[in-house]
Amino acid sequence: MDVKPVTEIKTKPVPTLPDAQTVTEVEHYTDRLFRFRCSRPQSLRFRSGEFVMIGLMGDNGKPLLRAYSIASPSWDEELEFYSIKVPDGPLTSKLQHIKAGDEIILRPKPVGTLVLDALLPGKRLWFFATGTGIAPFASLMRDPDTFERYEEVIMMHTCRDVAELEYGRHLVESLPDDPLIGEFIGDKLKYYPTTTREAFPRQGRITDNLASGKVFADLGLGIDKLDPATDRGMICGSLAFNLDMKEILEGWGLNEGANSEPAEYVVEKAFVD
Ligand code: A2P
Repeated sequence: MDVKPVTEIKTKPVPTLPDAQTVTEVEHYTDRLFRFRCSRPQSLRFRSGEFVMIGLMGDNGKPLLRAYSIASPSWDEELEFYSIKVPDGPLTSKLQHIKAGDEIILRPKPVGTLVLDALLPGKRLWFFATGTGIAPFASLMRDPDTFERYEEVIMMHTCRDVAELEYGRHLVESLPDDPLIGEFIGDKLKYYPTTTREAFPRQGRITDNLASGKVFADLGLGIDKLDPATDRGMICGSLAFNLDMKEILEGWGLNEGANSEPAEYVVEKAFVD
């Protein structure tokens, strides 16, 4: 009798979305802010500080994508994102409801100028962020390369309220004990959080605290401005913030750099829906 070999049909889970990644964790901080983690495509390589397009399938069957800075370090096996929630925002009004197990779309093509390679070598690196603009720095602060290249790293972050600082505060406080990055950081990282609309030990806009020299005095740096010979800056916030920061840094003689032409500072707009 003829016995036909049985062909085993292997079933592979087929992603329901193109470039689908699975959400693994979601944490809400306020009614305006949340963070989530998702699986990472095996092929995705990125430089700390870069962003990718992520999103969900829109009601019209077309992907609804926005630029999001990757907040996790390049050595992390998952990806982390930090997002605002805009009630009428086409994407974030939906994205804020994701939960572990859901799928998001992620285009694995990282780009961006907030990368160490776009800066000339220096001694002190400044991160200037408002709101969710801290996301690329959450990646850079967990990158050993940041602390190998600079003697000192200063993270300035300003939000309206204390609760909005929580993501950054928790991250910065956890770094010295981090088994992977802790030893690189030592005492090199200085954190300068401020609020503008709620009482907090340190208050005021980053721009005002730089222009008045308050931050230099508070941190005991013994300087009254950034020096283009030694200081490097990375800016990420709203358009108005970025423009005001550029004016301050250019006034001190720092020039804007790019991947193709490294200089003294780089800037990128934080994602806003
Ligand atoms: P302020 O409360 O004085 O407007 P938002 O939540 O609107 O994105 O703002 C985040 C933080 O950025 C707030 O603390 C806000 O201060 C501050 N901010 C907004 N615009 C500027 C700017 N042009 N320069 C400096 N800080 C700014």
